[in-house]
Amino acid sequence: MTSTPHHIDKLMDDELLAEVLGFETQEVATTASGAYVDAHSGRQFLDFTGGIAVHACGHNHPAVVEAIKLQAVALLHVSDTMRHEPQLALASWLRSKFAEAVPGELWQFLLLNSGSEAIDAAAKLAMKVTRRYEFAAFDGAFHGRTMMATALSCSKVVHWNAYDPFITMMRARVTHLPVPRASRCNEANEPARCIDAMRQLFAEKGDRLAAIFFEGQQGEGGYFPMDGNVAQEMQRLARQFGVLLVADEIQAGCGRTGRWFSFQHLGLQPDIVTFGKAVGGGLPLAGLGARLSLMSQWLPGEHGSTFGGNPLSCAAGLAAMQIIDEQGLVQNAVEMGFAATEMLKPLLGTAGIYDVRGNGLMLAIELRDASGNPDYNRCDAVKEEARRNGLLLLTCGARIGKSQTDCSALRIIPPLNVDRASMVSGINTLIQALLSVPVAVPI
Ligand SMILES: Cc1ncc(COP(=O)(O)O)c(C=O)c1O
Repeated sequence: MTSTPHHIDKLMDDELLAEVLGFETQEVATTASGAYVDAHSGRQFLDFTGGIAVHACGHNHPAVVEAIKLQAVALLHVSDTMRHEPQLALASWLRSKFAEAVPGELWQFLLLNSGSEAIDAAAKLAMKVTRRYEFAAFDGAFHGRTMMATALSCSKVVHWNAYDPFITMMRARVTHLPVPRASRCNEANEPARCIDAMRQLFAEKGDRLAAIFFEGQQGEGGYFPMDGNVAQEMQRLARQFGVLLVADEIQAGCGRTGRWFSFQHLGLQPDIVTFGKAVGGGLPLAGLGARLSLMSQWLPGEHGSTFGGNPLSCAAGLAAMQIIDEQGLVQNAVEMGFAATEMLKPLLGTAGIYDVRGNGLMLAIELRDASGNPDYNRCDAVKEEARRNGLLLLTCGARIGKSQTDCSALRIIPPLNVDRASMVSGINTLIQALLSVPVAVPI
């Protein structure tokens, strides 16, 4: 783009874009490379948000850019009038990845545009296959922004409050179970609470549930890995009652947690897997995989998309997935995640830091105030202080008015190929921000 900073300032003054997205800053991004983003102000930021867990290979990886250029010259769009090669090639690659993680039956894929769409499609497929019309999900879950995905989600009241009377009708068919998170040391009863509620739910209406949606590591809800016992009991009950297991790997997938899929940490064998974010290499792409025996029951026309799995996104996505594999980025996520955690853990119990958690490069630092409550304001203040010092961060954490679920955290999701120097520099900036924003003392 050739716009001058002055021209961009002028456009910003015109307030052209809806604020509903909740932009983090008034900076306007212009160029980016690797773990760094440049803004029109002339500032450069180390990006520990990765475009919200999208840039597994960093911004503008040259091989991804090259794949997009080549594809742009060859074919931009045909929709579902015809299959195209990038779609077939990506699906073939996905099939072999799924065969390693969930061996047995062949997997088939539906490629779409966004994670939320993939969640809606998974719910439709589950209804079609089971002929049941109720669902289970978890407190703290975030599955997206379409109406069905919103009904399945339970991470922040603001996501549904404005539409409550309508969403309530959909939620009448969704049961949210207690948070399924692995315990922190002083909350040992959490998994037990979840398991009890799950057993009760299945006893009451297991034969009416089409599917149970879960995140192997909750995203928006606060970056909590799922508890292993909860996971195993969920799978056992689902099998017993013929309920489909839907793994939402949209944020935690593609190597982010140090395994290709986060459900691999839990020894689960889901029936349907939704993916998105990183899978498009920076372009909009998402979708779902299902066992062939399930996917083949969906008849032509029962679902569809104009742009889903378009050639550019598939070409970029395949290039990105190959880079993750060939350059050992899943292992790098493990190593860099370990390095970050080692730097942060000594601070536990100081500066309002209540927990440091996560797998791979899906890490969070949970903050609490002096009374032991979630400290959303301080999370925001630390994030802003870090940004002033050149580090982009996001927050996460449930805010639904349930003390067992609510939490406030800062998330750390750099590209999976972040180098050690950038990782250390980013964590040091974060630590400085944590130390310079005081914990408010109750009056
Ligand atoms: C776990 C999870 N599921 C679904 C979604 C929705 O994806 P999208 O924003 O692409 O619709 C998100 C987005 O943050 C997510 O983190």
